[in-house]
Amino acid sequence: MSEAFRLDGRVAIVTGGASGIGVGICEVLAEAGARVVVADRDAVGAARLAATLGAVSVAVDITDEASVVAACAEVVARYGTPWLLVNNAGLQHREMLLDGTVDHWKRVNDVNALGPFLMTREVARAMVARGQGGRIVNCASSGLHGQFVQGLAAYLASKGAVAALTLASAFELAEHAITVNTVLPGGVGTPGAIGAEGPPPVGPGNRRPPLGMCGPRDIAAAVLFFATPAARYVTNQVLSVDAGFSVT
Ligand SMILES: NC(=O)c1ccc[n+]([C@@H]2O[C@H](COP(=O)([O-])OP(=O)(O)OC[C@H]3O[C@@H](n4cnc5c(N)ncnc54)[C@H](O)[C@@H]3O)[C@@H](O)[C@H]2O)c1
Repeated sequence: MSEAFRLDGRVAIVTGGASGIGVGICEVLAEAGARVVVADRDAVGAARLAATLGAVSVAVDITDEASVVAACAEVVARYGTPWLLVNNAGLQHREMLLDGTVDHWKRVNDVNALGPFLMTREVARAMVARGQGGRIVNCASSGLHGQFVQGLAAYLASKGAVAALTLASAFELAEHAITVNTVLPGGVGTPGAIGAEGPPPVGPGNRRPPLGMCGPRDIAAAVLFFATPAARYVTNQVLSVDAGFSVT
C-alpha cells in the first residue's frame, strides 16, 4: 500500500478509546501503523485495550480542563506530539424535550462538546508548536441528518456543536497544515448506545438501516481516511457512515 495511506510511527490519540466505536478506531489505526494512545476516563479499560494492541494509554476526563491539559502534556512528553486526535468520546443519554433539565443538558454537552473543544485546543497547540501539521477527526452523529429517536435534544445539540467546531477549527488551523473533519456514525450496537439512559428509543432511528448495522470498524475506516497523509487537502468535510439511512 502507498505510504500516503499509512500512519507508521505517527502518534494518534483517541478519546473514548476504551469502549465501542473507540475500540474499532484504535484497532484500525494500530493496523495502519500508528502509535495509538487510548485516552479514556476508564483508565483500566484503556490500559487493557492498549496492552492487546501494543499501544499505550492515558487517563483523562475530557470535561475537566486540568485533566485534559495534564493528559496532553503527558502524551507529548512520553510519546511525542500527536499527528492525529480523534474526538470520539461521547454520551448518548436521552431525555424528552418537555421534561428537559439543565443537569442533563450540561452532562451531555460537557462530554460531547466541551470535551472536544478542550482536547482540540491542547493537541492543536502541540501540533502548531511542532510545525509538521496534523489531523483532527471529530465524531458527531448521522442523527444530524435525520433518522433519529426521541429524547435527543441535548445530544443532537451537542453534536451540532461538534460539527460547528470542525468548521471553526478547520479555518483557524489550515495555515498550520492541520485538517479537521467530521465522521457521522449511524447506529452501532456499542455499550454506550445499548446502555444509554432515558426514555425508550422511539422513532425512525430505531429501524434496521438498508445495509444492516455498522460495526465500530466501519466507522474507523472513515476516520482512517481523514487521518492519512493522503487526505492532506481534505478539510471541513463530513463523512456519514450510516449504512444507508440517508436513502430511506
Ligand atoms: N453507537 C452509536 O450508535 C453512535 C451513533 C452516532 C454517534 N455515536 C458517537 O460515537 C462516539 C462513540 O460512541 P460509542 O457508542 O462507542 O460510546 P461508548 O459509550 O461505548 O464509549 C464511549 C467511551 O467514552 C468514554 N468517556 C465518556 N465520557 C468521558 C470523559 N468525560 N472523558 C473521557 N472519556 C470519556 C467512556 O469511558 C467510553 O469508553 C460518541 O461520540 C457517540 O456520540 C455513536
